[in-house]
Amino acid sequence: MVKKNACVFISGQGTNLKELLKSSREYNFPINIKYIISNTKNAKGLKFAKLYKIPFHILNLDKIINLESVLKELYKKKISLICLAGYMKILNKNFINRFNKKIINIHPSLLPKYKGLNTFRRVLENKDKLTGCTVHYVNKRLDSGKIILKKKVSVQLNDSEETLKNKVQVKEYRAYSESIINIFR
Ligand code: GRF
Repeated sequence: MVKKNACVFISGQGTNLKELLKSSREYNFPINIKYIISNTKNAKGLKFAKLYKIPFHILNLDKIINLESVLKELYKKKISLICLAGYMKILNKNFINRFNKKIINIHPSLLPKYKGLNTFRRVLENKDKLTGCTVHYVNKRLDSGKIILKKKVSVQLNDSEETLKNKVQVKEYRAYSESIINIFR
């Protein structure tokens, strides 16, 4: 199979990145991760970039001056998919316009419910019985692009933000890989 080149954007732990890296090692998985971008040098997930020997770059995409050089690098590396994996910055609108390939994101709620931050807190406050995660295309409105796939998690009476996060993240790993398979099928 001819794999497409992908770039993953992170800000924190990078557990989704780690799972994507594992999937990308499988013969039949449609992407190879060729580049990793973090908005901070303190992102713990950068250790996976080092472990898997993937080039990475620390970037402040808010600075327009950086935009051109990143786009140049993405085109040079023939990147046809960007996966946002816990990237905590809002992507520059100009960047979304200019990168005319696919950009996808994973969000820890059943969109369109609970866009933005603190999703688990809001699920618990509203006594929802179900939550989960959503993989979606990125457009210029926050967490609003076309939905690719959702996975549900049931909320138990004794759940805390922490336990919910842990349960949802396990679903995220599968959801992200399945979505990428669907996109390139
Ligand atoms: C994920 O749970 C995702 O839903 C959200 O940010 C979290 C990042 O976790 N967008 P990690 O950095 O992949 O561990």
